[in-house]
Amino acid sequence: MSMQDDEILGKAYDSNLMMRLIRYLRPYKWQVTGAIVLSMVVALLESVRPFFTKIAVDDNIAKGDKEGLLYTTMLFFAVLMIRGVMQFFNAYLTQWIGQKTIYDLRIEIYRHLQYRSLRFFDKNPIGRLITRVTNDVEVLNEMFSSGIVMVFSDVFMIIGIVWLMFSMNWKLAIITLSVLPFLFYGTFLFRKKAREAYREVRLQVAKINTFMQEHISGMLVDQIFNRQKKSFKKFEYINGAHRDANIKSIFYYALFYPSVDIIGSVVVGLIIWYSANGIIEGTVTIGTIMAFLQFNEMFWRPIRDLSEKYNIMQTAMASSERIFKLLDDKTAIIDSENPVSLNKTKGKIEFKNVWFAYNDEEWILKNISLTIFPGETIAIVGHTGAGKTTIINLLDRMYDIQKGEILIDGINIKNVSQVDLRKNIGLVMQDVFLFSGDVKTNIDLGNEEISIDKVKHSAEMVGVKKFIDSLQGGFSGEVKERGSTFSVGQKQLISFARTLAYNPQILVLDEATSSVDTETEILIQQAIIKLLQDRTSIVIAHRLSTIQRADKIIVMHKGEIRESGNHQELLAVGGIYQKLYQLQYKEQEKASLN
Ligand SMILES: Nc1ncnc2c1ncn2[C@@H]1O[C@H](COP(=O)(O)OP(=O)(O)OP(=O)(O)O)[C@@H](O)[C@H]1O
Ligand SMILES: [Mg+2]
Repeated sequence: MSMQDDEILGKAYDSNLMMRLIRYLRPYKWQVTGAIVLSMVVALLESVRPFFTKIAVDDNIAKGDKEGLLYTTMLFFAVLMIRGVMQFFNAYLTQWIGQKTIYDLRIEIYRHLQYRSLRFFDKNPIGRLITRVTNDVEVLNEMFSSGIVMVFSDVFMIIGIVWLMFSMNWKLAIITLSVLPFLFYGTFLFRKKAREAYREVRLQVAKINTFMQEHISGMLVDQIFNRQKKSFKKFEYINGAHRDANIKSIFYYALFYPSVDIIGSVVVGLIIWYSANGIIEGTVTIGTIMAFLQFNEMFWRPIRDLSEKYNIMQTAMASSERIFKLLDDKTAIIDSENPVSLNKTKGKIEFKNVWFAYNDEEWILKNISLTIFPGETIAIVGHTGAGKTTIINLLDRMYDIQKGEILIDGINIKNVSQVDLRKNIGLVMQDVFLFSGDVKTNIDLGNEEISIDKVKHSAEMVGVKKFIDSLQGGFSGEVKERGSTFSVGQKQLISFARTLAYNPQILVLDEATSSVDTETEILIQQAIIKLLQDRTSIVIAHRLSTIQRADKIIVMHKGEIRESGNHQELLAVGGIYQKLYQLQYKEQEKASLN
């Protein structure tokens, strides 16, 4: 995986990305408007605070106006109350908007992923896709909920304070603002350094994630080969790099905030120094000094906030770029615009001069032609990597072929909708996948048309009902993630029951190679017989018993069909099949005779 992808930190503002992001706010435009108005009001109510101090000191206290002081205090209190209430609504609303938008975005990404073809998943590591749906979306949440709206509030706050300062005393206002160039320069330096440090942190986080994901999945291998120490050293190193990167970034933050405070303190000194003369000369009142000291304190917060927002925006732009890149990926199997409906197929399958490559022109299947008549069972055999699994992936249209045609009942599968196609084909994969949940749901996969009786009947047919009944909870018994508490044979039988419950007209079985105990083996053999009954079937066979029962055996070699015929015919030819038989199946034959 390209690590760079997760490390790139682009611009803090990109108008194209921004326009596209804003679209996610459109359904909530009234709420967004409300939040912006509220934050304006809060900023205004916040920035007038020093004004009350000045009135209280200069107009009430200085003149001994007790009643006026009470009045000012009450008014001030009322303003604070209103501000508090507004702040509540503002915070609630902005977070609400953030949560709504990321909900929408996550749904969109998941839906998009659901319709990508296998080619897409061949290209994109799982870890990266998970990062998109979790981290990257979370970053956008931060931008939607605190970024956009709060920027308004900060800017209004700054405008409000500057305006009030100038209207109160323009000379003091200029003195207060005189340090701004230093501040801007300092912020510029900080941002540059912080950005580099932050990029490094992100890179290290990505490394930790990748490492953890791989090593937790591969923990068993680590343990079997006693590699824990070695893996630990590797992790220690990555974790150390992550710590150092973080400490470095903390260093810049730790330096920046006190620096801003020092600049603020210098301004306090300047205000007092200037006003001391003013008071003596009678041009500045005590209330004004107090108000300015407060303004000064309030002024730096939004400025500091804004530089933090800059970081949020920067990460958000980078995340949104990655998310949009994912959403723009069009790798998919596209349905024909006017699909021919295929409700219940008769089960005739034809491959006509099919060529297929996973990549460019590295042909994995070369000029494959074969016909399977309704009700027939075809066994495909061949060495590992010969292209057997590939053939059945093509029939189910998991990949589109480059040349030739695949027909079902004489209709090109490209002209049938994928829903119709897959409804008619039951595919039992080489590795069984069970979802966490219960046994019943793993058989009916949540399809409400499949009754519990049908589920039980299917389990009975493939001979797994007794086992399921013996589980705690029976058909409602718990299945852990990936079915980790079941044996390979048990999982296999459950997946047979699943296919039988869906009762497809065409059955495709990629027989697992893993050996199971004799008793389970017999169960599986009998189950396969039940599965194949009354349907067109293609079996990628590893069991001699399955092969011998097939109407025709197809021998694949390096992407080509080299031989075809029944067991006896092929043995008589004395070619690849005969060799395979000698090497692989003879043992099975002996074992079954014993
Ligand atoms: N997703 C993929 N991307 C690229 N190449 C692939 C992909 N899947 C399989 N291949 C390649 O295609 C060839 C055929 O693979 P396939 O899985 O069809 O073999 P198979 O006959 O089913 O083998 P086995 O008996 O081991 O299951 C192999 O050389 C393999 O490396
Ligand atoms: Mg295979």
